[in-house]
Amino acid sequence: MDLKSLIRDIPDFPKPGILFRDITTLLRNPEGLRYTIDTLTQKCKEVGLAADYVVGMESRGFIFGPPLAYHLNAGFIPVRKPGKLPAAVHTVEYELEYGFDQLEVHQDAIHPGSRVLIVDDLIATGGTAGATAKLLQQIGCELVGFAFIIELRDLGGRQQLPDVPVVTLIEY
Ligand code: PRP
Ligand code: ADE
Ligand code: MG
Repeated sequence: MDLKSLIRDIPDFPKPGILFRDITTLLRNPEGLRYTIDTLTQKCKEVGLAADYVVGMESRGFIFGPPLAYHLNAGFIPVRKPGKLPAAVHTVEYELEYGFDQLEVHQDAIHPGSRVLIVDDLIATGGTAGATAKLLQQIGCELVGFAFIIELRDLGGRQQLPDVPVVTLIEY
């Protein structure tokens, strides 16, 4: 299936010079959605990504994480923006294009030695995925790999990631 044809390109969003890869047009297409989840699952299995937990980052990682976790017989753990999770959290700070932001995960959600797979819709600079990896590794998790629907190769995000398998479906 030509997944790229289901992704809508929006120039100059959210700011001038950014070509936004909009996945909402893929999500609303029944065959496209099914193919995306099935293929992501299959590719994760092909590279042997067995995990106890799939970890997805707010907000678009929440769309693809749970169905992938379901198919991999794993649990799903949300990593959220600051101040959203109700119980005690571990926090990581990371650099954005301008300034800094934070991500949080519940302290009692993951334990040292848990095998975790990080999932998001897209990797650009790798800041978000790299920070999530750091957060999980600080807890002592075994990071087994990453899965993304889209990789923006020119931004070199992979270089920000630890040396574990990275599964992607579409590259620009
Ligand atoms: C987008 C996207 C990834 C991240 C990738 O999320 O969903 O999480 O950017 O960029 P990076 O590799 O440079 O970190 P965004 O922060 O825009 O928020 P959203 O998921 O809530 O839409
Ligand atoms: N997140 C970071 N860069 C993006 C882009 N070009 N399109 C959609 N989401 C993004
Ligand atoms: Mg995101």
